[in-house]
Amino acid sequence: GTAQVGVTGLAVMGRNLARNLARHGHTVAVHNRTAARTRALVEGFGHEGAFVPARTAEEFVAALERPRRVLVMVRAGAPTDAVLDGLAPLLDEGDVVVDGGNAHFADTRRRERRLRERGVHFVGAGVSGGEEGALNGPSIMPGGSPEAWAALRPLLEDIAAKAADGAPCTAHIGPDGAGHFVKMVHNGIEYADMQLISEAHDLLRHVAGYEPARIAEVFRTWGTGRLDSYLIRITAEILAHADPVTGRPFVDVVADAAEQKGTGRWTVQTALDLGVPVSGIAEAVLARSLSGHTRLREASAGLPGPHRPPLAEEDAAYFADQIEQALYASKLVSYDQGWHMMRAASEEYGWGIDPGTVAAVWRGGCIIRAAFLDRVRAAFAADPALPTLLADEGFAGEVGEAQPAWRSAVAEAVRHGVPVPGLSAALASYDALRAGRLPAALVQAQRDYFGAHTYRRTDRAGVYHTLWGGDRSEVRAGS
Ligand code: 6PG
Repeated sequence: GTAQVGVTGLAVMGRNLARNLARHGHTVAVHNRTAARTRALVEGFGHEGAFVPARTAEEFVAALERPRRVLVMVRAGAPTDAVLDGLAPLLDEGDVVVDGGNAHFADTRRRERRLRERGVHFVGAGVSGGEEGALNGPSIMPGGSPEAWAALRPLLEDIAAKAADGAPCTAHIGPDGAGHFVKMVHNGIEYADMQLISEAHDLLRHVAGYEPARIAEVFRTWGTGRLDSYLIRITAEILAHADPVTGRPFVDVVADAAEQKGTGRWTVQTALDLGVPVSGIAEAVLARSLSGHTRLREASAGLPGPHRPPLAEEDAAYFADQIEQALYASKLVSYDQGWHMMRAASEEYGWGIDPGTVAAVWRGGCIIRAAFLDRVRAAFAADPALPTLLADEGFAGEVGEAQPAWRSAVAEAVRHGVPVPGLSAALASYDALRAGRLPAALVQAQRDYFGAHTYRRTDRAGVYHTLWGGDRSEVRAGS
């Protein structure tokens, strides 16, 4: 074979990655279950580079130079297994197969084991940036063997987005499921970020009394500062957009039931299993879920709430600034929770994920790309063992300065009856983490009371139980 790389699965993500590879001068074998898509790709974009169309899996595999590099871009779940089952017998030892879909990391671990038995390197690669990113530069998070990374590196570095300093937004994340795990957390953070931004919008609308066009201006300004990010930029664009049908603000004609394909839910399910509190992501998933419960919402629509008019103009401007601070601090806390989760999984699975590398890879191409991620990268580069971003002097200083405004914004939201689950959960997390003592002590005492579940003491080592039903003396447990 003569093709340097093959792409099978030519729906929009696969097609755009194939074009991206071809545009960078690589000869790309292309294959799809139904041949029409392969033909359409070559007819529509053949002039962009060198494509080798293949009608069958056998033809596809034969078109590749060895060791082969195959990118599988089909739907996660059963379709991915079907394609891998078809490919496996055709591959040779040392070949590299990449799954660039949004697979669950547990599936990736299973597939990696199976293919490893045949001597084939399986790489679960998170790819972020949507259709546009796939074509012009995504963020790529590959997990697999170092040998596989060495084979893929030149290709991935070519097609990945480039950060402001020119570095490609891809790196070896770790073995087996590490790449898809990190992509999953990326999506969880994406959910949290979107939720926080939409809460900020809601406050500007209903407490500050701003119209969408004006809120667009506010976001545009914020986007030139420390909140500079893709999601803030597209939010400004969306809010400035008028519905061509009615002329009304576009955001007002979109049905307010948020859907999800499930990666945010996976993040929360996994975090629960790891015992890591990712309240920002969880609240975002829950808020989407609540928004879809139409009957429940209709039945609750008449319940009483405060009737407060929007703030006066001067107060509104002041409030808008408080929201910027609340948004920034909450974003920091939510991202920090994501890193906590990656650290826990890395320890659990022995992945050796470098936290700064993840931040570096997310600086460009992906949905959560943001100027702020370069500072996260720098913080972890200075201290890879940083237990929280708030232990970094720079971030701690910013959040310390923001916290009075953060509280005011949340309090004002509560007074006006505007739900801010993301902003308030982030603040609660911040306050819980900085508190010297937590009410968890009382929870432990309750557990001991009704279930003899025992407790530890602050002043002495050992495990204890109080004889609540008897004379309430204390005994050492297990003695
Ligand atoms: C990305 C996106 C991408 C997808 C989301 C949408 O990184 O490019 O995250 O993977 O658009 O998964 O997720 P929901 O449909 O769950 O909102």
